[in-house]
Amino acid sequence: MFIASLYNLKGGVGKTASCVNFAYMAAKDGYRTLLWDLDPQGAASYYYKVSDEAKNSIKKIIGHSASIREAIVHTEYDRLDIIPADLSARKLDILLESQHGTKKYFKNLLKELSSLYDFVFIDCPPGFSNVADNIFTASDAVLMPVIPTTLSVRTYELVENYFEDKEIDISKLMCFFTMVDIRKNMHKDIMQHLYKDMRFFEHYIPGLSDIEKMGVRNAPLEVFAPSSYAATCYRALWGDIKEGVLE
Ligand SMILES: Nc1ncnc2c1ncn2[C@@H]1O[C@H](COP(=O)(O)OP(=O)(O)OP(=O)(O)O)[C@@H](O)[C@H]1O
Ligand SMILES: [Mg+2]
Repeated sequence: MFIASLYNLKGGVGKTASCVNFAYMAAKDGYRTLLWDLDPQGAASYYYKVSDEAKNSIKKIIGHSASIREAIVHTEYDRLDIIPADLSARKLDILLESQHGTKKYFKNLLKELSSLYDFVFIDCPPGFSNVADNIFTASDAVLMPVIPTTLSVRTYELVENYFEDKEIDISKLMCFFTMVDIRKNMHKDIMQHLYKDMRFFEHYIPGLSDIEKMGVRNAPLEVFAPSSYAATCYRALWGDIKEGVLE
């Protein structure tokens, strides 16, 4: 079971849009896939038209009154399940404190699912927190969307430093560019500069209105716009990721 989290310290960079598309493509490729929506905003659950039927599931799981398996819901797509967001996740940081501040809580929790899934994608809320530390520890890859602007580069460096300070394996950090406008010199220059770090996948996601439409269509791109340029870009990036993580 390979665990990939979609993370950035910064909000609004395309974590959820990417998580929803990668999970769909993994399932379509034949992998048994689980998307864990850990962001209390619940955007990934919304894209998959799934609501939290088991209210307060995270709270119950951490309080040992429910198992993580009970929180799993099937989507309408083959091989694709989801743990929907739930509002108790707002207090996840405090709930994790009650686990003696361990960073391995999610890792141990997910072990229970290792025979059920090939891929787990975690849609993370932005920010540094106990939740983020737990996600980094549990993940085999931390996939980070980066918009090629000056502020995003600063955030990227903060995340790199955080990994080093906390002694998290930095080779897990794998990045890709999103919302790229290749006509802008600033975007091109920043991409050229950051590609040298060898932490970025080659293919990138441009800023495209079809991606915004996912919120209107409540579905991944491959479902409602399979021949769009946006879907082509996501397929190419997914190809890079599979190559990068599956040897
Ligand atoms: N490549 C793209 N082109 C155009 N719009 C995009 C692209 N990727 C995402 N968006 C839009 O930008 C907004 C933010 O995207 P998304 O929700 O995926 O980001 P996020 O990093 O998950 O945000 P948050 O930190 O709030 O969870 C959404 O309205 C989404 O539709
Ligand atoms: Mg999000």
